[in-house]
Amino acid sequence: MRLIRLPGLFFLFLLIASCTSQSFIQDKELSVEHKIEALLSQMTLEEKINMTHGNTKFSTAGVARLGIPDLMMSDGPHGVREEIKPDSWEPAGWTNDSASYFPTGTALSATWNPDLAYRFGQALGQEARARDKDIILGPGINIMRTPLCGRNFEYMGEDPFLVTRMVVPCIKGIQEQDVAACLKHFALNNQEFERNTINAQLSERALQEIYLPGYEAAVKDGNVFTVMSAYNKVRGAWCSENPYLLNDILKKQWQFPGIVISDWAGTHSTVEAANAGLDIEMGTNRPYNEFYFADPLLQAVKNGAVSEKTIDDKVRRILTVMYKSGIFNENRSEGSFTTQEHFDIARKVAEEAVVLLKNDHNLLPLDKKKIKSITVVGDNATRKHAAGGGSSGLKALYEITPLHGLKNKISADTKLKFAQGYKRTTKFTWNKGVLNFFDADEAEQLRKEAVAAAGESEVVIVFAGLNHDFDTEGTDRQNLVLPYQQDLLIKEICDVNPNTIVVLISGSPVEMPWHKQVPVIVQGWYAGMEAGNVFADILFGDVNPSGKLTFTFPEQLEDSPAHSLGTYPGQDLNSDYSEDILVGYRWFDTKKINPLFAFGHGLSYSSFQYSDLKLKAKISPEEGLQVSVNIRNSGDRPGYETAQLYLQDVECSVIRPDKELKAFEKVYLQPGETKNIKFNLKSKAFSFFDEKEMQWKEEPGLFKVHVGSSSRDIRLSGDVLID
Ligand code: GLC
Repeated sequence: MRLIRLPGLFFLFLLIASCTSQSFIQDKELSVEHKIEALLSQMTLEEKINMTHGNTKFSTAGVARLGIPDLMMSDGPHGVREEIKPDSWEPAGWTNDSASYFPTGTALSATWNPDLAYRFGQALGQEARARDKDIILGPGINIMRTPLCGRNFEYMGEDPFLVTRMVVPCIKGIQEQDVAACLKHFALNNQEFERNTINAQLSERALQEIYLPGYEAAVKDGNVFTVMSAYNKVRGAWCSENPYLLNDILKKQWQFPGIVISDWAGTHSTVEAANAGLDIEMGTNRPYNEFYFADPLLQAVKNGAVSEKTIDDKVRRILTVMYKSGIFNENRSEGSFTTQEHFDIARKVAEEAVVLLKNDHNLLPLDKKKIKSITVVGDNATRKHAAGGGSSGLKALYEITPLHGLKNKISADTKLKFAQGYKRTTKFTWNKGVLNFFDADEAEQLRKEAVAAAGESEVVIVFAGLNHDFDTEGTDRQNLVLPYQQDLLIKEICDVNPNTIVVLISGSPVEMPWHKQVPVIVQGWYAGMEAGNVFADILFGDVNPSGKLTFTFPEQLEDSPAHSLGTYPGQDLNSDYSEDILVGYRWFDTKKINPLFAFGHGLSYSSFQYSDLKLKAKISPEEGLQVSVNIRNSGDRPGYETAQLYLQDVECSVIRPDKELKAFEKVYLQPGETKNIKFNLKSKAFSFFDEKEMQWKEEPGLFKVHVGSSSRDIRLSGDVLID
């Protein structure tokens, strides 16, 4: 029988007539598009606008009569925040909202393990679902432009390629649990200092090559459902009303079908924001009907400044995300909360995140059977970090501290002594415009006691670093100096005991004037609820460290690009990104500045040999380049190695960084085992963004392929000619 094609409008009429009941919302016969149109056609303008702004701190209204529920949101990127009261920032006082606390962004990225990022996302999504959330406000991926940014700890470091490889699986893991991820903060929220007012000025090339790739991959490959606009301005326009970022790039070029949500109280207008591509205004202080996207938006539609078509597009996006997040599904995922599986994932991420920066005389791993006495020093030996850092803080079900982890690990006949050494304090002295946090009277006493204790044991482990007074939202650090006179403490301890191990608990770089004197340095991160057990496992060799840095540790702050050029924190609320594309190791390598510890650096208790680098001498752009290399574990214990591939454009019409990360693979090798790793580089890998043509361009010529264990530990190189 020939199907009679009903005219579209008439069909839609029939559809609506037959869809007055809510049953059609779940009707499997109808496409999601049809159901959305049917819902939209039944909504009043007021109902549509109610969906585009907060109706509590962390939700937007639905349309009850049509079976559309409120949209529930929660922070944050490394665990589900405690329940907040509907109309204030105060905790709701629940007793069952203590969540799993996962390692934070710089730790997750330091695993260089996309599969683990996926599992991290699954666990975070399951916990959000179990708390009945529809949107989890994470992951955050702002590039580390300055080591001082207070929120570096939440993000994934300084390299755009690494971010693309880690953020996509994380988002997929979250969204497969029927929860929308919310990628943030779009874009260029690279400092907290004046974050609500700073204007980022930068070239199109820096925008396209450094700051956008993570977002583009998240949209195109990760299919992220929501994006959060940042507080700051870009090229003079607030991110929440920036037509170039929101309409031109995100929605038109990248075809983003989801929702743009403002950062909280980050909206600055009604008409400009509505027409520039913002879809939901979230905020804090106004009564909800006074939000820009509430009564004023209704007025703007009535007076024609904003078309109803524009409002329909916003609501269509919101309904699309609702359908994609399973909100209308009877069998929507239930999620799971604080399960052993999640604790295990938190532990696994921490195990693969910890970076062994230095291990002279192979002092590590310690031998549990032989060691008789250990002194543990430092405020970070006993401090818990889960609740700190601002909006990403959470109420952790538990958090194993480093001292607790060591006590769990050591044998009964090992004497363990703890000395405070230094203490967190908010007391400070003001010295040449710099805040020095320490309490003079107390500090000296604590230092003396710790040094005395250190001299009496075989080994000293100092848990040093920062905390969320420094790694936190809303402020940047003033410098890279360890607070509370830790440098003096570490130096004096080294003077009395050569077997000193420093474990840094922090989410961003610090200066280490004592680094030559200290034989062992470990970057421990804010490593989540199992941190203490993981540090103990690594110190005693039950876990072979495999983390690699995803950002540069400078010898001194002035060596960093934004500080060397004096463009941070900006002037008159303008931050000129004049380092352009030379962010992080791109700057250090191109300017031939030696870092304290390089991007991609991380030692193992094993050693790895690279051999047999094979690459075609000549390739055409479409064919791409096949690279093959062998990695062998020449050590005596199994372990992971992350082989990194960097490209160097030897001859180019524009400046290009000395080298750029274009591929990596983390492999697990038994002692003596060899694995062959293959990489395939497509044309984009060789290209730069041409500002004249406003597109990516691959220029023929000579390229060098570098493969190694870090950006400064290149093991093999080869030449390739692009026709
Ligand atoms: C904050 C943060 C953002 C967070 C939001 C809700 O200001 O910038 O990351 O998700 O508000 O707490």
